Amino acid sequence: MQKIVTIVGARPQFIKSLPVSNQIRKSFREVLVHTGQHYDNNMSAVFFEEMGIPEPDYNLGVGSGTQAGQTAQMLERIERVLLDEKPDTLLIYGDTNSTLAGALAASKLHVPIAHVEAGLRSFDKKMPEEVNRIVADHVSEYLFCPTQTAVDNLKNEGITEGVELVGDVMYDAALHFGAIADSKSDILDKLGVAAGDYLLATIHRSSNTDIVDNLKVLLEVLVESGQSIVFPVHPRTRKVVNESGLQKIIDGSKVRLTDPVGYIDFLKLEKNAAKILTDSGGVQKEAFFFAVPCITLRDTTEWVETVESGWNVLVHVDKELILRKISDFAPTGTPAQLFGDGKAAQYIAERLTT
Ligand code: UD1
Ligand code: UDP
Repeated sequence: MQKIVTIVGARPQFIKSLPVSNQIRKSFREVLVHTGQHYDNNMSAVFFEEMGIPEPDYNLGVGSGTQAGQTAQMLERIERVLLDEKPDTLLIYGDTNSTLAGALAASKLHVPIAHVEAGLRSFDKKMPEEVNRIVADHVSEYLFCPTQTAVDNLKNEGITEGVELVGDVMYDAALHFGAIADSKSDILDKLGVAAGDYLLATIHRSSNTDIVDNLKVLLEVLVESGQSIVFPVHPRTRKVVNESGLQKIIDGSKVRLTDPVGYIDFLKLEKNAAKILTDSGGVQKEAFFFAVPCITLRDTTEWVETVESGWNVLVHVDKELILRKISDFAPTGTPAQLFGDGKAAQYIAERLTT
């Protein structure tokens, strides 16, 4: 049986990996490697437990660090695993430092690489993720694209071989776990919010957290909107809020900061929100899947279809502009099915088998 080593490390990668693991384990031996990039229980273990993601065969325990420091440690440790395991293929997801390290380590050892979520581009090389995507795509043999835009982006960079339009594995996951969220999650009751009567916010992009003034403006916007807002706070953002004394902006307001929540509860919060404010890639897409209007707190997005369809709007950090969108942004109609048919993981496994 052929062997695949899969690299995951960050919250969205655990979610993306499950549908694919379920499919590839029918025909391959999968060795699951967790780099340890995310390590808090509510950023890692909760997903393995509630989604039934297989226990990792390795946890490399890399943890947090600078961009280069974190990536360098991953590189060394992933190389050791690849030398021991001698896989036929390396499977990587998305655009994190775990993705980059996996891609570099495998390419130097001539292990063929399969990249899930290939071809995404924001055309902003100041985002660490953009550099990771470009490198990963240029060393991969199999490029599994979620959208036609991704296929076109690769073509523009001269990459046409090994490119497959399969749809989005996050759509596969959202369909399955969205139904479970409907029936099982009691998060609305727990937080004391009613369906359709609150906004959901997430912020973690470096441009919105490393520049403290940007985060300050965003928190002020949430408060000044006067809306009831649920905001599960990413640890990166929590650190800045705590260290920069921004908590006082929120105190006494209708903005509810919580710890990050599990996937099933988060899907429930998304599906029932009146609007979503986010700088997350995955959350923009999930808003679209569930036909919830999305205000994206960034100048660019890789998920351009969501904007072109009218269900997502990009806003830079400008208080008046964001407040206006919170009150006025009201797309109508039904979003088209742009992210596949919910079987992306199956198509990936089939392609890897042939
Ligand atoms: C990473 C990815 C980003 C992705 C995000 C998903 C890169 C370059 N970025 O960003 O593309 O959207 O994951 O959430 O790979 N921290 C904790 N506990 C944890 C994890 C992180 O406290 O379990 C804190 C640490 O202070 C750390 C900071 O968050 O320094 C940032 O974590 P890191 O994994 O470097 O980047 P993310 O912002 O999470
Ligand atoms: N998510 C979650 N709990 C939260 C916030 C997000 O389970 O408190 C899920 C969300 O449903 C989506 C993924 O995490 O599937 C998005 O991850 P994140 O925003 O961290 O990263 P990005 O998609 O921007 O890379």
